Amino acid sequence: MSGAEPRTGAARLLVRDLAQLASPAGRDAPLRGRALGETELVEDAYVLCRGGTIEAVGRMRDLPAQDGEVVEVDGRGLCAIPGLVDCHTHAAFGGDRVEEFSLRAGGATYEELHARGGGILSTVRATRAAGEDGLRAAVERHRGWMRRHGTTTFESKSGYGLDRDTELASLRAIRDAGGVPTWLGAHSVPPEFEGDADGYLDFALREVLPEAAGLAEAADVFLERGAFDAAQARRFLEACRDAGLALRVHGDQFTEQGAIPLAIELGARSVDHLEATGDGGVRALAASDVVGVLLPASALFLGRPMPPGRALVDAGAAVALATDFNPGSAFCESLPLVCSLAATQLGLSPAEALAGCTVNAAHVLGRADRIGRLAPGYRADVVLLDAPDWRYLAYHLGGHLVAKTVTAGELR
Ligand code: NIG
Ligand code: FE
Repeated sequence: MSGAEPRTGAARLLVRDLAQLASPAGRDAPLRGRALGETELVEDAYVLCRGGTIEAVGRMRDLPAQDGEVVEVDGRGLCAIPGLVDCHTHAAFGGDRVEEFSLRAGGATYEELHARGGGILSTVRATRAAGEDGLRAAVERHRGWMRRHGTTTFESKSGYGLDRDTELASLRAIRDAGGVPTWLGAHSVPPEFEGDADGYLDFALREVLPEAAGLAEAADVFLERGAFDAAQARRFLEACRDAGLALRVHGDQFTEQGAIPLAIELGARSVDHLEATGDGGVRALAASDVVGVLLPASALFLGRPMPPGRALVDAGAAVALATDFNPGSAFCESLPLVCSLAATQLGLSPAEALAGCTVNAAHVLGRADRIGRLAPGYRADVVLLDAPDWRYLAYHLGGHLVAKTVTAGELR
């Protein structure tokens, strides 16, 4: 192609002469066990999109002759994988935590800073100060960063407002930026309810949930020492479930506090983090329908143990991978970097990592029937990797890997 790059939502878009095309095998979701590591691989491949949907994929030699106008993209030297799905981010925040990051580099721990009113609560102050316009600008900026790393669908949580107006403004900003909004109404106890987590939950469920339920698709809680305990998490999640929201849990990040049994009992979509999960938790999760969302960039950023990714996969758990993008524990928007960490730190194969941030992440977001695969009928979300082999997705550590992305048939 030469000159300005064409965009096409309605017309046909043909990506041709790709070195490889790789997509999680089959049509099932979530994938687990052996199926998690199975990839459909096509060499010398094409992807044909029409009107925002994938019409066909295959080998170049099988490409039917195309009549009429087709926008062609030269895929020589590139590999196609499905648009990446980031199923766990905190993109709606004001300010940053670069000062805290520097203190941590000098030895202060994340939990100490949190206990001193820093950490999440310092971002709460900056987020409340940002106002709705500031929040919208922040979410759009962060969405742009994610796209440059191949993320074509992102979830984002609220959770840095913790008052009615800022929580609802966060959810609107996420929705209007095209994200999948999750109400993290129980992230931390805000200063006006200091020492009274139950009082804060009374407020959040009475004053915020009725409107949050109309904006968000899911609810999330931080079940952890210093945040919310299991009884409080249960009360919050049951009320959100009754209001029609899907459920997520931040669990086992620092300590095991019963997140996995609670997530299973309540039929949550996922339990996320799992750095502190022991053998019993691994077995319980593997025997359930709850997806374990692994966030290795967060463990790396905080210098914490990695979650037991290999043990979970070997036990038969459905796992997904996500960035946890946020200003405090994971200032990282790159799913390719997360795939590298999955391979080098969690013992997952590149194929397992690919499934983790495509089909299984799409399942966590309730969208596995339409995103997360390169196959006819799926939304035309494609990442073109600047690589001769698609496994560079995990192999090229911190590389500039994404050449182009196609989102709903639009080339960017
Ligand atoms: O997923 N653990 C709780 N929440 C975020 C971190 C939030 C922050 O540090 O600002 C997480 O890691
Ligand atoms: Fe998180």
